[in-house]
Amino acid sequence: MKKISPSTDFTYLPIGIFDSGLGGLTVYRQIRTLLPSENIIYLGDTARVPYGSKSTATIRDFTSQITRFLLNQPVKALVIACNTASSLALDVVMTLTHLPVINVIEPGVLEALRLTQRKRVGVIGTRATIESEAYPKKIHEYDPSLQVYSVPCPLFVPLVEEGWEHHLVTKMIAEEYLNPLISLAIDTLILGCTHYPILKPVLQTILPLNVTIVDSSQVVAQAVRHALEALNLLNPQTIPGTDLFYVTDFPRKFTAISSRFLGYELKNIQKISIETLSQYSQQNP
Ligand code: DGL
Repeated sequence: MKKISPSTDFTYLPIGIFDSGLGGLTVYRQIRTLLPSENIIYLGDTARVPYGSKSTATIRDFTSQITRFLLNQPVKALVIACNTASSLALDVVMTLTHLPVINVIEPGVLEALRLTQRKRVGVIGTRATIESEAYPKKIHEYDPSLQVYSVPCPLFVPLVEEGWEHHLVTKMIAEEYLNPLISLAIDTLILGCTHYPILKPVLQTILPLNVTIVDSSQVVAQAVRHALEALNLLNPQTIPGTDLFYVTDFPRKFTAISSRFLGYELKNIQKISIETLSQYSQQNP
């Protein structure tokens, strides 16, 4: 595929945001609030979520398909609003475009580095994200002396999708996951998964008061603004930007799940089949 380079003519083009499913809407929401004039296309791979338990090869293939599809729209920047895809396939996206690519890991890491006082940081995420060691690697690029402790929390995504964020069972599971991190005296906890901001209230009841939670969705939106500003790609229009949401399936409870992430009902949704997306596979450039 031909690489597209940034140009000031691109300001009116949408920002392309994607996630394995609907969790990335937590990131979309922050971007929409910070950059109200921007046009946005969001793609949630709802037919193939979760990515967090899939093989690296599969995650990279799905990410490549989605990236190629969004570049073809076209878009002026890409936001990988999925920690699993950011951890395992950032290089795949970068090789496909010269456009700004914002992932969810680096902004969260920079925020944790800013906040930690005792240099003891915990990271929670999907199994794929934690096994990739993307977070400790990125943290140690900036500060090799920092202690990073990571725990996969595979039960959190289904609990959030089920709407059990206030359920006692979720609190018990969260205690099981977080207690080892608490006993290691972390002072900062990175939520390394786009579903986890929904669990912030329950996590806060478990964590000691001196532990600060880093919700990457907020800092990612600022990173998007900085990246667009730096390249003069901010949309100058004063009217509200448009939204278009693509999903690869309308799963059961779609409205309930998307509303939980967004705070309101999703509109302007179009289905794109995984057969169509597969045509954008690396094997079929
Ligand atoms: N969006 C994924 C992430 O942020 C969580 C869901 C999944 O496993 O695909 O890691």
